[in-house]
Parts: sequence; structure tokens; C-alpha cells
Amino acid sequence: MSPLLSLVILVLFPRVRSTASVAPTVVLDNGTFTGTASTSDTQSFFGIPFAQPPTGDLRLRLPVTVSPYNGTHNVTAMGPACPQQKVTVPILTGVVDTIVSELFEDFYSAEFPDAEDCLTLNIIKPATATPTSELPVVLWLFAGGFEFGTPARYDGVPIVQRSIAMGKPIIYVSINYRLAAFGFLGGKEVREAGIGNLGLQDQREALRWLQRYIPAFGGDPTKVTIWGESAGAISVSLQMLANGGDTEGLFRGAYMQSGSPVPVGPIENGQKYHDDLVEQAGCAGASDTLACLRTVPYDQLKAAQDASPFFLSYQSLVLAWLPREDGLFLTDNPQRLVQQGKVANVPFITGDCDDEGTVFSLSTLNVTTDEDFSEYIATVWAPTAPASTVAALTVSYSSDVAEGSPFGTGILNALSPQFKRLASFQGDAVFQGPRRFFQQSLSGKQNQWAYLNKRFKATPFVGSFHTSDIQNVYKDGELTDYLINFVTDLDPNGDTVPAWPRYTTEDPNLMTLYDLPGLPATNITSDTFRAGAISVLTEISLEFPI
Ligand SMILES: *[C@@H]1O[C@H](CO)[C@@H](O)[C@H](O)[C@H]1NC(C)=O
Ligand SMILES: *[C@@H]1O[C@H](CO)[C@@H](O)[C@H](O)[C@H]1NC(C)=O
Ligand SMILES: *[C@@H]1O[C@H](CO)[C@@H](O)[C@H](O)[C@H]1NC(C)=O
Ligand SMILES: *[C@@H]1O[C@H](CO)[C@@H](O)[C@H](O)[C@H]1NC(C)=O
Ligand SMILES: *[C@@H]1O[C@H](CO)[C@@H](O)[C@H](O)[C@H]1NC(C)=O
Repeated sequence: MSPLLSLVILVLFPRVRSTASVAPTVVLDNGTFTGTASTSDTQSFFGIPFAQPPTGDLRLRLPVTVSPYNGTHNVTAMGPACPQQKVTVPILTGVVDTIVSELFEDFYSAEFPDAEDCLTLNIIKPATATPTSELPVVLWLFAGGFEFGTPARYDGVPIVQRSIAMGKPIIYVSINYRLAAFGFLGGKEVREAGIGNLGLQDQREALRWLQRYIPAFGGDPTKVTIWGESAGAISVSLQMLANGGDTEGLFRGAYMQSGSPVPVGPIENGQKYHDDLVEQAGCAGASDTLACLRTVPYDQLKAAQDASPFFLSYQSLVLAWLPREDGLFLTDNPQRLVQQGKVANVPFITGDCDDEGTVFSLSTLNVTTDEDFSEYIATVWAPTAPASTVAALTVSYSSDVAEGSPFGTGILNALSPQFKRLASFQGDAVFQGPRRFFQQSLSGKQNQWAYLNKRFKATPFVGSFHTSDIQNVYKDGELTDYLINFVTDLDPNGDTVPAWPRYTTEDPNLMTLYDLPGLPATNITSDTFRAGAISVLTEISLEFPI
């Protein structure tokens, strides 16, 4: 697979471990589940179904609660991923291809098996945890643009081990949720049927499952933190907006790495992709398109989905499949829900990488002139906005390469004359802008902390790229300890990490992470960069959501 793709997903394969001692078991209802002693101090229970299989007539339906368990089950391997959208990557040539390939050869990728029957979760717990332990719990939501991804790409064992070493043991849970056409189908038919945002509904169902079953593993259902990266972090933020901001007691904290309530509009904005899918699947002309889609053979529906644009295509972050206002899970556009204060009143941590937009701008290297840039914004990003709006954006995002992203790299990394400009615009439109809007809207209402990752800045062309903070949290960086502290105490601060002051509008502190030789690894900076441009962009996003 392409090195570029590997870069985006940053593979963190679970290591192969020799299984020690006797296999651990947990009893759920009348079912007995046998897991694995993954290390001497942790136990894993992989591939437990948390909802009825979303197949047959349950395809394109809200998740249905599992029946009480019975019998014996080996839960030693993760279940298949949910149906993955076919990956298409930009074709890079010459020096870009060479350098990107070389840099990321370690981040190789692999095919993960996928299947429609995919609603399973995975639990890693300290070996000593018993049903009376009442440990805090963290639920991980994987990345992948709502189009692909799987919990199998991430190894939670080092996090649980680190929590034990810190004297703050926690339980790690990761889940599958439906993706692309199976999880985020749009269109008016979907609104009418009340089946929008199924991937988010799956996440909610998993949270309900934890309320019922996590005590058997030693977890405290009143101490659940939801955590994710990219699409997973956007998901976390949208869980905060569901149900008018009422958490139903399902979670008490949120940790978001590169994802906030995004500027998306009504579910009818996805009509085009609905109609294309219906056509491709052979359901055109059916009186009930959803009923027809439920009868289409899996391979045929998967192929129809795969004909849609992937997130590394020319339209990039203007995703074909993504959460949208459906009147049910999201009762309004996410950013309007934030303005209305319909947000879960729980403490949270959020953060971004400095150059969020670079990877997503490798597919638009043929946008080379100022005219191309305006045209791209006008046709892809803001097709309903007047010319004056597009003009305001082109003024805010300068064509001066020294102002573009990777930021702070002068005239370097200008892959095309408009690459750094588009990277700056896209990073702010989907990541930095929505994060700042979210944080400032909630300032003073609940405790919040923010970070900015400037590590890997020297990476050619992509700088501190999207996902460059994942190793930090999965492989024993500061973000691991901040996570464990937060999951345990609802405050990231603790003995092992630098002090991290809270974020408010008056004092917008950013824990900034560096890897520059001879300089401190962290520093507190202020969230005031590109203030004018981001404020123009936020106003426009609110008016013209995608
Ligand atoms: C467990 O099995 C017992 C005995 O067969 C039965 O009475 C009970 O209803 C079962 N519980 C669940 C949750 O299925
Ligand atoms: C055991 O579980 C399966 C799957 O949920 C279910 O079909 C079956 O009826 C259950 N059996 C009993 C005795 O509860
Ligand atoms: C579980 O795995 C063990 C050891 O591999 C095997 O002996 C047993 O038959 C399996 N049980 C089930 C229910 O699959
Ligand atoms: C760039 O290439 C894409 C895909 O071939 C095409 O759709 C688009 O119009 C091109 N854009 C420009 C500015 O040439
Ligand atoms: C840390 O931040 C302070 C205040 O913004 C600044 O004066 C100082 O130079 C920074 N230090 C480093 C190493 O970046």
C-alpha cells in the first residue's frame, strides 16, 4: 500500500506476545468469555459483540441491543473491521514520492479483514482488576475519515501498563462503528426513516453496553471517558452534542485529538451520494430505496460505496460520507448546537497538530494559480456562497508561501505555488477553526485544556502532519500520562508531566509540544495565531456548512 496512506493512518500494530499463565474468563449474563493474558499484568478480551449484527433487515437500521449472553465464547482475537471504503491515494511522482516513501517506510500498512457483521468491542484490563475494583474506563474511537479504520490498528496494552505503573490503573476499550455508506448514508429518505448517523448511534450503543457490562471487568460505569483522533475525535465532540447535551450518565470526560464539532449542514447535503449509491447498487427506480438497499448483496453494495470519492481524492476533506444534522442524533448543525449551549457539561481536553491540512492537500497539487485556488474554494468548499465570500477567504489565506503550512518553514515545502495556502486553509477549516470556536464558546462553562503538536516539524512537505501526535499517546509520551491522569482525576495534571494550565477565552493556553534540539520539549503558548483569518473562516463556515 502507498506510503502516503500509511502516513495518514500511522499503523500501531498490537505486538505478538507469549501468553502467560491461565486464560482469564469473565461472566456476562449466562455467557462465559475467555480472553488472553496479554502480558503478566494485563488481560485482553477481544471481539465481543455489543449489538445485534447489522445485517439482513438490520442493515441501515439503528443498532439493536444484544440479547442476554449465554454459552461459552473465546474472545481472543479482534473481530473484522466494519466495511471499509476503497482507498484511493493521490499519485505522487519524483522527489515528493521518494521522500515521502522513505520517511514513512516504517509506517507500513496492511489489509484488515472487513465484514458487515462488525459491531464488536475489545477490552484490555489490569490483570488484578476484579468486579469490585471500580476502575476508570477509557473508550477509544479510531480515526479514518468516517470512511475506513479499525481498532485493530491500535495497541492499548502499553497504555494500561503505563496506568498501572503510575498507580492509576484504568481499563481500555476500543470499538468498531459503521462507516461510509453503511454508517453515514445521507439524503432525505434517511431523515424520514430516522436512520441518520448510524456510526454515531453505534458508538452510543457501545457506551450503553459499558453501563451494563463493564463492572464485570472491574470498571466503574460512572467513570467513563470518551477519546478519539480525527474522525474519532469529531465523533467524541458530537457525542457531547447528542441528546441536547444530556450524557445520560454514559461518560464524564472527553479527550479529542484533532477533531471538534465540524461545520456540516443538513443530511440532505448528502443526497448526491445517496442517489449515486442507489444508482450504482441497482436500486434506481425502487419505490423505497432503503428497502431495496437492504436486499442488495453485500459485495454489490460495497462496490457501489467504493465508487464514491475517498478522503484523499480531489475534494479531500469535503467528505462524501460524514455526520450531518438528521433531526434525531444531531438536532441542528453541530456548530449551531454549540452556540445554543446544547453541549455536555463535562471537562475535556482537545488539541491539534500544527499542520493539519498538509496531507489533505497532496491531492490538489494541480491547483497552481490564484484563480485555481478561488475556483477550488468556490466549487468544492462553498458552492452556495456568493463571490464576495470566496473573495474574503482568498484574502484571509495569503498566497505568500511563507505564510502557508507547514507553518514557520519560510519558502520551503512549496510543493506547488498554492500547496501551502490550501494546506493552511484546509487545516483551519476542519481542525483549528472548529477547535477554537468550540473552546471559546464553552469558556468558563466547564474545565478544558488544549494542546498544539509542533513535533515532526522537520518532516519534508507535511511538517507536523495530521496524526503526528498519535505515537505520543499510544507509545508513552506526555499525552499518555495526561490521558491517564484525566481519565482518573478529570484533570490532566500530575507528578510525571509539565504543568498544563486550563484554557479560557481570556487566557487561551496551549500546551505546545516541540522536538527541537536543545530547546524544551514543551511550552505554554497562546491560541491567538491567525486570529483574523480563522475568525473570517468561522463566520463563513457557520453560514455555509458543507
Ligand atoms: C440464565 O439462565 C437461567 C437458568 O437457565 C435463567 O433462568 C436466566 O433467565 C438466564 N439469565 C439470562 C440473563 O439469560
Ligand atoms: C443464547 O444466545 C443466542 C444468541 O443470542 C440466542 O439465540 C439463544 O436463544 C440463547 N439461548 C438461551 C437458552 O437463552
Ligand atoms: C476455545 O479455544 C480453546 C483453545 O483453543 C478450544 O479448545 C475451545 O474449543 C474453544 N471454544 C470455543 C467455544 O470455541
Ligand atoms: C485537477 O485534477 C482533477 C482530477 O483530475 C480535476 O478534476 C480538476 O479539475 C483539476 N484542477 C485543476 C485546477 O486543474
Ligand atoms: C515559551 O513561551 C514563552 C512565552 O510565550 C516564550 O517567551 C519563550 O520563548 C518560550 N520558550 C520556548 C523554548 O519556546
